[in-house]
Amino acid sequence: MNLEEAQARIHQLIKEIKSHNYNYYVLSEAKVSDQDFDSLLQELIHLENNFPEFLFSESPTQNVGGEINKNFQTVAHNYPMLSLGNTYSEADLLAFDQRIKKIIGEEFTYVCELKFDGLAMGISYSDGKMIQAVTRGDGSKGDEVTENVKTIHSLPQNYNSDGLPSSFEVRGEVIMHRKAFNKLNENRLKNGEQVYANPRNFASGSMKLQNPKEVAKRPMDCFMYGFYSNERLKEGHYENMMALKSKGFNVSQHIKKCDGIQDVLEYIHYWEKNREQLSYDIDGIVIKVNELNLQEELGFTVKSPRWAISYKYQALQVQTLLKEVTYQIGRTGAVTPVANLEPVQLAGTVVKRATLHNANEILRLDLHEGDTVLIEKGGEIIPKIISVVPEFRLKNSIAVIFPENCPECGTKLIRKDGEAVFYCPNEKECSPQVIGKIQHFTSRKAMNIDSLGEETVALLFTNNLIHSIADIYTLRDKQNLLLGIGRLGQKSVDNLIIGIEASKEMPFEKVLFGIGIRFVGETIAKKLAFHFKSIDQIKAALYDELLEADEIGDKIALSVIEFFADEDNNELIEQLKSSGLNLETDQKMMKSTSTILEGKSFVISGVFEINSREDLTKIIEENGGKILSSVSAKLNYLVAGENMGPSKLEKANKLGVPIINETDLLNMINNENTL
Ligand code: IVH
Repeated sequence: MNLEEAQARIHQLIKEIKSHNYNYYVLSEAKVSDQDFDSLLQELIHLENNFPEFLFSESPTQNVGGEINKNFQTVAHNYPMLSLGNTYSEADLLAFDQRIKKIIGEEFTYVCELKFDGLAMGISYSDGKMIQAVTRGDGSKGDEVTENVKTIHSLPQNYNSDGLPSSFEVRGEVIMHRKAFNKLNENRLKNGEQVYANPRNFASGSMKLQNPKEVAKRPMDCFMYGFYSNERLKEGHYENMMALKSKGFNVSQHIKKCDGIQDVLEYIHYWEKNREQLSYDIDGIVIKVNELNLQEELGFTVKSPRWAISYKYQALQVQTLLKEVTYQIGRTGAVTPVANLEPVQLAGTVVKRATLHNANEILRLDLHEGDTVLIEKGGEIIPKIISVVPEFRLKNSIAVIFPENCPECGTKLIRKDGEAVFYCPNEKECSPQVIGKIQHFTSRKAMNIDSLGEETVALLFTNNLIHSIADIYTLRDKQNLLLGIGRLGQKSVDNLIIGIEASKEMPFEKVLFGIGIRFVGETIAKKLAFHFKSIDQIKAALYDELLEADEIGDKIALSVIEFFADEDNNELIEQLKSSGLNLETDQKMMKSTSTILEGKSFVISGVFEINSREDLTKIIEENGGKILSSVSAKLNYLVAGENMGPSKLEKANKLGVPIINETDLLNMINNENTL
């Protein structure tokens, strides 16, 4: 190996080992086996010995007491280390209670404990001494980390063994208190080291350190919640825990015996409100049947005991690390920054990404690469970043800068007057925009071509088979080219063609919505189709004529005019026409099936039991009624479903607009009740 090759390999190894260390220590998620990791490290040590000129201070081999992994000895558990069934709902908890009662009757008690958010540890004791500590590992075997565990002061290494079985195992959770976490993380920051995302990762990373002296510098705690022995100590779990406590084992003072499920619920509610007052993180409550003979009777499923369950609290805000900001280009060319995060549990799901909305949001947050951020799940499915945690900002970190050019096609981005969003103006050639437009066309609310989902559209585009909406209708003649692309077999190709052919029956309003004229959403497409009856008449309409249609304002009218001013768009329309799509309203379809709702206007809001919102819209329109999009004094009825927006409800109440439900509406049409 020459000098140049050695240097390149050393750089590569440092990068690779650092990334494995990050996965292991920060994410607590090893991506390589210990053996593979060691061989990379050995190779680096070997090269550094032979080429000392390339011994860099940032090399993981020079990181004293640092995060170099060493194989721990693997030890089989004497008692399998199982997990717990989880629930986030009280209904599930009541069902758990019912199940238990069905098996063991009414005569039992529960024990409630905090669910500590750390890492599980099994610690065996014999004749007054701590013998061995083992991590959970895969549940049947784990890493032997006795020396590391001995640095935890709250764990007795010696105890008075009178009255205890000669050997036993206690199980508990190793945790780090929030205060210690913040302090240690700040130190890491000062030293230019990677910070940990939360106390649990810090605790679990620390337990995996090779050097117990380093572990000792990281104060940790351990709460015990399990006792395992061949001999019975007491008759109940609670009593066992009290016996351990009296011998100096660290059992939480918050453990509580409960008489029934109502007591349990009270405990859960209490800690939901007060958990912030604890000096450490909990993520829920563990509920266990107390009597050991009943625990035995209930037994285990493959993964967890039937006598216990954990009730998890919904985390509504949580800290995590920003890994990278990427940019998504939508079908309209709008550029949306997306924060890619270190995955973290939040309100019942694992969050990996958060929306950053637009360039202003990045400035508001003063976002820097590698920042620790506080994220929150509001009403939306995609969580948002509330703020940066300034104490954890890395030294010399670089501010996130919104790009000036489109990250996909390189075109200079533009910002329209009064809008916060940047757009890529290259709408005809910027791939994500073209793909997005085709995906919109085939989507459920537009042409509803089920067999041509988002992935297939992207696949066909990247394989040069479609470049525009019109190209979809040329696929029938290219079937031989479709076969074998991605995972497309004969059956998928057949379905694809059937779906495409069927879409030719879709009504004009759907086609109009699908072609994606800016600001022409579903409702507006319907209004335009209803008013003008054909694409040619919409195209021919002058500005003032467009404004005459229901709900069409200045912005939409201008957008329609702009669309038809572009020759490419007109060509697209002609192609769609010659492919046989409906570009006129079907007069039969437009006829109302009754006129009972004539002159009456409706706003539909919420989720309905019998019909979808689309169906209700159709029913109202088919019976002569008119759909409006917002509540005003002119509105005749608000049709309210489940989970409707409170503002609509409030406004309707204020204006005295009658609020009816789905059944009222259907009755109205069936003339049972004219309201
Ligand atoms: S009892 C058979 N009690 O939660 C399982 N576990 O999801 C016995 N945990 O691996 C576990 N606090 O790491 C139990 N008070 C508590 C707990 C607790 C935290 C953790 C433990 C376990 C995981 C199960």
